[in-house]
Amino acid sequence: MKIFVDSANLGDIEDALKRGFTSGITTNPSILAKEERRDFAAHIRDIISLLRRYKSSVPLSVELFTMDPVEMLAQAERFLTDFGDYENLVIKVPVGWEELCVIHALRQMGARVNCTCCMSYNQAMIAAQAGANYVSLFWGRIRDFGSDPSLRVRQVHKTFKEWGCSSEIIVGSIRQFIDVNEAFQAGADIVTVPPKFIPQLCTHPKTDEAVQQFIRDFREWTGDNLSTAQPALLSAAPAR
Ligand code: E4P
Repeated sequence: MKIFVDSANLGDIEDALKRGFTSGITTNPSILAKEERRDFAAHIRDIISLLRRYKSSVPLSVELFTMDPVEMLAQAERFLTDFGDYENLVIKVPVGWEELCVIHALRQMGARVNCTCCMSYNQAMIAAQAGANYVSLFWGRIRDFGSDPSLRVRQVHKTFKEWGCSSEIIVGSIRQFIDVNEAFQAGADIVTVPPKFIPQLCTHPKTDEAVQQFIRDFREWTGDNLSTAQPALLSAAPAR
């Protein structure tokens, strides 16, 4: 069970890295387009530098941004040249007939692949057969289409397990924090979560109530003589 961060925002990625829970980063062209307009390669390089600054080598998925089959492979090769020095670069390739050629060629070259935009059982199966390291199922979009995403993930998980398939299931297209719980329970190996939902994963009104009560009781007992000194560890961020 792993949590990835579905973002290209440097601040949000740093917030996750500081907290140590993230096992990967996923981006896509739309996610990148939410950032201030700049050179695409420079932005990916900044994400890589940030990961290195935090001594992290988690998988970083970068998606192809062309639909032309010839250009797809050329672009993937360009990603390998520009970002391949990062030890855990994953090339995200949408599922599709022509796209399978790209997935297969990249796997033959030893590159790691995340086959994305999978909505159906068949798409997930064929992506895994073609050698994709990760198969991304889109929870919210499957539900938008009127299908049951938890059933879809459960079916894929069951078949992967029976078959002994090494591809990992990433569930993306998370629309509310409860989707994360349901995706894990359905058998997702990984859920990639938009940053805005992540704080909700570790908060609960009863937790706030308990913590406030503990502090209040302790203050009453000590006569409010608590030290306000900040531990050095909390303020320490890796040097730029
Ligand atoms: C996952 O890898 C995708 O980038 C993402 O979750 C897509 O979700 P969307 O439906 O919000 O576009």
